Amino acid sequence: MTATISTPQYLLDQARRRIKPTPVTMPGMGVLEKRLKDKQWDEFVLADPPAGSDLKPIRGDAGLPIIGHMIEIFRGGPDFVLEMYQKHGPVYYIKSPALSSVMALGPDATQAVFSNRDKEYSQRAWDPVIGPFFEGGLMLFDGEEHMFHRRIMQDAFTRTRLTGYVPHVDSVASAVLANDWATDDPRFLFHPAIKKLTLDIASEVFMGVPAGTDRKLVTTVNEAFATTTRAGNAIIRKPVPPLSWWRGLKARQTLEDYFAGRIAEKRRVESTDMFSVLCHSADEDGQTFTDAQIISHMIFLMMAAHDTSTSTMTTMAYHLAANPEWQDRLREDSARIGDGPLDIEALEKLETYDLVINESLRLQTPLPFNFRRAVRDTDLLGYFIPAGTDVVTWPSINHRLPELWTDPERFDPMRFAEPRNEHKAHRYAFAPFGGGAHKCIGMVFGQLEVKAVMHRLLSRYRLELPHPGYRPRWDYGGMPVPVDGMPVVLRPLT
Ligand code: HEM
Repeated sequence: MTATISTPQYLLDQARRRIKPTPVTMPGMGVLEKRLKDKQWDEFVLADPPAGSDLKPIRGDAGLPIIGHMIEIFRGGPDFVLEMYQKHGPVYYIKSPALSSVMALGPDATQAVFSNRDKEYSQRAWDPVIGPFFEGGLMLFDGEEHMFHRRIMQDAFTRTRLTGYVPHVDSVASAVLANDWATDDPRFLFHPAIKKLTLDIASEVFMGVPAGTDRKLVTTVNEAFATTTRAGNAIIRKPVPPLSWWRGLKARQTLEDYFAGRIAEKRRVESTDMFSVLCHSADEDGQTFTDAQIISHMIFLMMAAHDTSTSTMTTMAYHLAANPEWQDRLREDSARIGDGPLDIEALEKLETYDLVINESLRLQTPLPFNFRRAVRDTDLLGYFIPAGTDVVTWPSINHRLPELWTDPERFDPMRFAEPRNEHKAHRYAFAPFGGGAHKCIGMVFGQLEVKAVMHRLLSRYRLELPHPGYRPRWDYGGMPVPVDGMPVVLRPLT
């Protein structure tokens, strides 16, 4: 049966999107944004460098009272930060009641922060952003403790383990794309549809619940999961019922109860889902996770995997719809591996996909920034940073620098191929997966998932823009999200 879109639901969704008050949707915000960007703010010095040092002081400003530069960041994201870099250079301070931080900009600053040579930066800067909902997640650990957890978790990401996950990804993607997505309809919204698909994939690959079974439970867990993820963006960051911070904490409890209730069974029988794999993962010395550690890791992993892959595929779908010649090139790759069940070797043959995935990650980086906190007085590119200062590095602006990339705004996947290799212009010219000790552990899994889903999608449909010249608007309040849900028309190929 062909999937259809319910008109009342569609209209309700559109109305919700229009009236949701954000700095991107509220009337008059465009004019205000322009004024704010043109304004010369009063500058101050963050802290005087120690007497006798040759370090320079960091300058900064506070933007508007209370909200700081929130309007420019929510609306412009990396474009605004790029302008800041061009105006103030690689190290600049932004003071704001919500989150004051040193902006560490450009590839050299990214390298200094990610490589963390003297262990001067801590991950605890993520605490105010996601801490209460994702406590115990790998990204929130430092030093030895982080190494301990990462070594064990590495066992869940070996080639053998990845080989076990791929058929799960493929079976969910194939079924959903064939049955659940509406075709020939410009009201079809790619972003919510792919978000739901990646959650369905996660239910099977991470939790081991086959798609289509136990619908009620999967829905409850998926909703709890979406609530915890959203809670990190709350404006009122206190547990006040019924607001989103409070809901996030309740949802975290639901997730903990879910995983706790199944862990004994997962420990007893080893299977190819990630929950079971983590229960049996061990490092080279045979060390393993406790039940509580597995629960926290599962909750964090599902979050880390979900919006990032969703964002990558959303950007990719848009650029492919806008550049149909690239769809044809990917289909040629897909034709070479055929329609059979996918395995890791087949996915590795989809090399043109790698170029398009990279170009999508460059143009819209799912995690545009990374937080760190200086644990002691330190220096960054010759500037003095006092202990306790939060430092944010923005790989996403490196991805737009004209000194590193030819015509950076253009969709041009060939820049990643020989002989151009523009991503090699600097070690941190291209860093959508971070770098250093915390570099994304799920990078290969994420790439395989994106390839599997997009291969199935392009083998079945031609993607079209809802109208010629359509361009999405992005909300950069958290990870980049298309404000209108990103309509894409799916035309069946046969
Ligand atoms: C396209 C998809 C993805 C992107 C762009 C992405 C991006 C990133 C980035 C930038 C970091 C570093 C954060 C930091 O240094 O502060 C990171 C860390 C992490 N990612 Fe991913 N990620 C993706 C997919 C995944 C997937 C699929 C998983 C799990 C299956 C995953 C699990 C993790 C974990 C556990 C960490 C923390 C690593 C550590 O601290 O040692 N990610 N990711």
